[in-house]
Amino acid sequence: MNQSCESPRQCSLSTLIYQRPHGDANDWLVSLTENHPGFAKIVDLASVGKVAGFLTSQAKSVLSIAIAAILSLDESNVMMMDPLKIGLFGFGFMGKTHALNVKNNPNAQLSAVFSVEKDRLDIEQLGAKFYDDWHEMIAAEIFDAVIIATPTFTHAEIGLAAINKGWHVFLEKPMERTLGKCQLLNEAAEKRQILLGMGHVLRFDDEYLAIKEKIASGAIGIPKMVRCTRRGPPPGWSTWFFDEEKSGTVILDLTIHDLDYICWLAGTAPKHVTASASSILLGNNNMFGISHVVLDFEASNGIELGFAEASWAATASYPFSTSIEVAGTDGMISSQVPGKHPIEIYSDKSREAMNVFSKDGYANEIDDFIIAIVEGRPPKVSGADGMLAVKVCLAALESAKSHETFDLEGFT
Ligand SMILES: NC(=O)c1ccc[n+]([C@@H]2O[C@H](COP(=O)([O-])OP(=O)(O)OC[C@H]3O[C@@H](n4cnc5c(N)ncnc54)[C@H](O)[C@@H]3O)[C@@H](O)[C@H]2O)c1
Repeated sequence: MNQSCESPRQCSLSTLIYQRPHGDANDWLVSLTENHPGFAKIVDLASVGKVAGFLTSQAKSVLSIAIAAILSLDESNVMMMDPLKIGLFGFGFMGKTHALNVKNNPNAQLSAVFSVEKDRLDIEQLGAKFYDDWHEMIAAEIFDAVIIATPTFTHAEIGLAAINKGWHVFLEKPMERTLGKCQLLNEAAEKRQILLGMGHVLRFDDEYLAIKEKIASGAIGIPKMVRCTRRGPPPGWSTWFFDEEKSGTVILDLTIHDLDYICWLAGTAPKHVTASASSILLGNNNMFGISHVVLDFEASNGIELGFAEASWAATASYPFSTSIEVAGTDGMISSQVPGKHPIEIYSDKSREAMNVFSKDGYANEIDDFIIAIVEGRPPKVSGADGMLAVKVCLAALESAKSHETFDLEGFT
């Protein structure tokens, strides 16, 4: 077996990784060890590769990081490895977005996609294998990781099947429709040492990140109150949204973004959740399409109140709109979308306008997930975060129905 490096230091990681012939991973590592004594320190990593009889991209990433550490190579070289094989479940509104972001990520390869037959051509044009049966895709393929962008009520079934295969999982929000299913996903991922990432996109949106950083820098003193709005036409592209059992109404589907972000800003879960909601005709069903949720925080970093309003009560001509304002002891920060409004920061002494020209949060979240796998660290938004967001939403849904306030700790 020929590894043609003169010395370990002259040997780039890409040479090492790409020159590895297909075959027994152990042979390859033994050969490296013989040629380069420094590698003896990592030879025990051979066991990672031996599990499958060959090195998976995941094992290679572990190995490449170890090699980089030993040789003090530039960390950018660590990324020069075979792209991770990604399976995508769902090719609807979100699946299509994730497919393009995987395609644009140099460390990932969109390997296969599950969706309905009408999507076959588009999926094959992306260079991925098409499946119209997700069970079949799981049985036939080997992935490093999967992205699940199917309807909310299917996340656990597909996610658990993927976790059982040992694949890392990125789940669209909401994590699932019930707390029990969120729990199953978290327990399974922990047991199998699987990285579970969540698509809470505001935590990857450069504007929302900039707001968080500005607050942390003390620009508005101690933050006290956060108010968010999120409005748009109903998601008429699929009927499952208009079935409360499947989507959880506008509360689980839309306002979850802001509720998760507010909790993240506050650095903790709310103590109490109270909500009001109004039913509108969505598809053939009357269900909650407008909601207002109030979060009371007791032990936060200052934030005491969070308000989140969400609405699907808009005509198709109404642009999807969001806003956020955070009031603090020494000022206020606010932002609105759409429009080319900068983030505004008002304090006693000044008024500042900050333009954030952002990369798409959807691209950022996929990049984070891929890098997390390569580096072997948890993704930025965890399964525990995903479950907390669902818990807050379910408490809000119950509060809107019963007109009670719920103590979140005791809510099950
Ligand atoms: N992060 C965001 O901003 C955002 C935006 C929209 C949707 N979402 C979330 O993404 C997920 C998917 O939403 P979408 O709008 O892409 O949905 P969609 O209806 O547009 O697409 C769903 C996909 O899943 C497949 N599918 C349909 N029924 C299925 C079933 N019973 N089992 C398995 N697969 C099925 C469809 O073929 C399609 O490929 C949802 O959880 C939704 O809440 C997130």
